[in-house]
Amino acid sequence: MDDPRRIASLEDVPDETTLLFRVRKQDTELAAKREAKLETESETEAEIGEESGESAETKEAILVRLNGDVAGWLNYCQHLTHIRLDKGSGATMRDGEIICENHGAYFESDSGLCNFGPCEGAYLNSIDVTVDDGDVFLTDPEYEYVGRGGIETDDLDRTSTSNIEF
Ligand code: FES
Repeated sequence: MDDPRRIASLEDVPDETTLLFRVRKQDTELAAKREAKLETESETEAEIGEESGESAETKEAILVRLNGDVAGWLNYCQHLTHIRLDKGSGATMRDGEIICENHGAYFESDSGLCNFGPCEGAYLNSIDVTVDDGDVFLTDPEYEYVGRGGIETDDLDRTSTSNIEF
């Protein structure tokens, strides 16, 4: 049976770009609230979700190949944090660094450190992943795996093209 936390086979993770996937934050508080409410009242799960402000939000994440290993990061720049590094066809990478195309920040793919650019010194948000027997699994207790690819919405990341005007 398929493991619900399996993201990809190691072979699927490209060498010079990133592999995009989706995760959802595990909301333990919301889960506990749901359980308590459902036990005591006849509210539907949808109503409870509305009340809580829908905190079980889906986020994009990326896998990056390291020497024989893989790292996982949330797919958002640390300069403007709504800007995606991988916009759907793989992030730009050079010499093991992930480059944000908006204003040229460079992030080390093994540590997540921005070593050049407007957010120099900041770190990408890490997602725990592990390689086991040729497959890559999500092992981060804070997130559940949703699927491969990015979030599909029409107005997502409208400002993600270059902000530099000529
Ligand atoms: S949004 Fe990434 S460098 Fe500005």
